[in-house]
Amino acid sequence: AGCMQVEALLEGFALDRSVLEDVMLRLRREMEKGLHVHTNMEASVKMLPTYVRSTPDGSEVGDFLALDLGGTNIRVMVVKTGTDEVGTWKVETKVQVYSIPKDTMTGTAEMLFGFVAECIANFLEKHNMKERKLPLGFTFSFPVKHQDLDKGILMKWTKGFKASGAEGNDIVNLLREAIKKRRDIEMDIVAMVNDTVATMVSCYYEDHNCEIGLIVGTGCNTCYMEEMRNVEMVEGDEGRMCINTEWGAFGDTGELEDLWLEYDRRVDEMSLNPGKQKFEKSISGKYMGELVRLLMLKMVKQGLLFWGKASDALTTWEYFDTRHISLIESDGPELQQTSMVLKNMGMEPTEADCELTWRACNAVSTRASLLCAAGVAAVVTKIRENRGLECLSITVGVDGSLYKQLPHFKQRLRVAVSELAPECKVTFLQSEEGSGRGAALISAVACKMACRTT
Ligand code: BG6
Ligand code: GLC
Repeated sequence: AGCMQVEALLEGFALDRSVLEDVMLRLRREMEKGLHVHTNMEASVKMLPTYVRSTPDGSEVGDFLALDLGGTNIRVMVVKTGTDEVGTWKVETKVQVYSIPKDTMTGTAEMLFGFVAECIANFLEKHNMKERKLPLGFTFSFPVKHQDLDKGILMKWTKGFKASGAEGNDIVNLLREAIKKRRDIEMDIVAMVNDTVATMVSCYYEDHNCEIGLIVGTGCNTCYMEEMRNVEMVEGDEGRMCINTEWGAFGDTGELEDLWLEYDRRVDEMSLNPGKQKFEKSISGKYMGELVRLLMLKMVKQGLLFWGKASDALTTWEYFDTRHISLIESDGPELQQTSMVLKNMGMEPTEADCELTWRACNAVSTRASLLCAAGVAAVVTKIRENRGLECLSITVGVDGSLYKQLPHFKQRLRVAVSELAPECKVTFLQSEEGSGRGAALISAVACKMACRTT
């Protein structure tokens, strides 16, 4: 009987091909709604124009500051851009990582941006650059409604952020003000971009087929190059513009209700943003550990795990995270790492407990990779159809802790995308420090354009 109960619990996470194809169709529907002016309001997927265009001909050469806010850490870096004999880009970077205190993430906007400005000042001080007024590219990894490349309003916080007084306001302004208030540094903020966009652009310089950016980290999101004629929110029909899909919000208008399990509902209820970012909550690193922990607790309740007894750690909210899943999923057949993780959580696991814990991790993380694959497959199919092609060869620039650390994620994603979009040859290119480099490169192009128009 125990065996059947286990199968029934894990079964809930299994998604077969027809379900995934249906998810693709539903996402396509939301993307189309999001692109049209008259249906955008009701779309869950907002399809935000980024003002990053397809024709960057020439860029400014020099030093740029890049700032990255929105993942686990704040990064500040200086990026040197230039050209070599063959005309390609060279980038050299110095980088510094700062961790954000939790109460700064959920305090006021003034506190948060004050802290960001302090990180910049500290960085400039360390590198003896405080006297220079450098152009700054700002990677801000949240949904922003842009009016231009350097102007945009935060629609809503996502992931673990909740600083008051930021939603509905121009983020570049908030940062400018925080910098001005200090009086010890000066900065020219030339571009604000989403992390997906920065990642795509940084990979583009390595591979000109890179027209999609994907982040699977604390959050999950993607951007891609859309035909201007389909971007109703922005004037003009020529060329392409990068669209930040904000697909993390897919499902927020109820279109995935049949997929969600009790664990998904619980994670959503307990989050800082209930009812929001439903797709993201089933995939990304901020929530995956919780999904596994809740599934394990259910197994304990049914007497299937740990003789029906949970330790304090196992009943603690957010105790279990992606690092634990990575250790367990990369374990050998003896499951020694799994046993160690469970012992550290105050349990005395039997072999069967270790085996079942491994299966719980496997179920949750496999589902995440398949849902993400359905998303990528929908986007590449859309691009292929846009261009009237039978076959499309395209590269996806990827970043994020979950993608990089979870042992089987990449492989499962790649295989599932090739099955769900067989007409597309999709290459995944991992980005290193992409957000910063990408933001600097976008700024370098923007500076060149500004010179040309003034
Ligand atoms: C980093 C990028 O590498 O990945 C960030 O520089 C991005 O901009 C991040 O937000 C996502 O990963 P995580 O796991 O830190 O959310
Ligand atoms: C969240 C944010 C989005 C970002 C993603 C990855 O989904 O809303 O803007 O790109 O996380 O960091």
